[in-house]
Amino acid sequence: MRKEALLDKLSEFLMVEQCGWQLYQVVGSRTQDAELREKYAEFGAQTDRHRTVLIQLIRQLGGDPDYVSPTARVAQVKSEALLQSALQSGPLSDAEREASDLENVLLAETKDHADWQLLSQLAQALPKGKVRTALEAAVAEVEPQEDEHLQWAADKLAAVCLEALTSAPLPERGRLTRCVIDPAAPMKAIHAAPVSPRSLLETARLPPSQETPASRTARSAG
Ligand SMILES: [Fe+2]
Ligand SMILES: [Fe+2]
Repeated sequence: MRKEALLDKLSEFLMVEQCGWQLYQVVGSRTQDAELREKYAEFGAQTDRHRTVLIQLIRQLGGDPDYVSPTARVAQVKSEALLQSALQSGPLSDAEREASDLENVLLAETKDHADWQLLSQLAQALPKGKVRTALEAAVAEVEPQEDEHLQWAADKLAAVCLEALTSAPLPERGRLTRCVIDPAAPMKAIHAAPVSPRSLLETARLPPSQETPASRTARSAG
């Protein structure tokens, strides 16, 4: 096994736990639902513990927990996009915001769960020794909780969405400015084949009498 590659992966997994903890802080601070608040607090605390477990594991393997690997940076960007969507859900009704937050938790926990599943598989594949023992101890503590996080998020999101579809009050209409897609247009027309850059240039052209510097450039490019 290549230890540097494993340490890079552990840095990525640590970033996932760090960002997952931040997500739980955001969704837990604004949920209106007592059960959700309780679960977000419980899973957030467990996620905080997972960070500690990974920091200890990285140290046991001779790594530096402050090192941020390239894939950890990518994981950070992905997680920040989730957080960004959580902070931009202004036009949603309360029920829609709860569902959106749960969906973000489900997406984050899907990655988190996959990380620990991989560590479990790696531990089983390694020969007996220090690295395998350290991995097994971490996996034994964390993996059952990751199973619970993922299953709960999937089940709860389905329940919240079913409730919204069947018995919750309808959200207020007209909350958004009109969508650029005509709701009456057939779906096939909306999902038309991608437009090539060349045809975009074609449609950008103006009659010569109305040309601007930009449309002149488009014409000469065509
Ligand atoms: Fe976790
Ligand atoms: Fe988790």
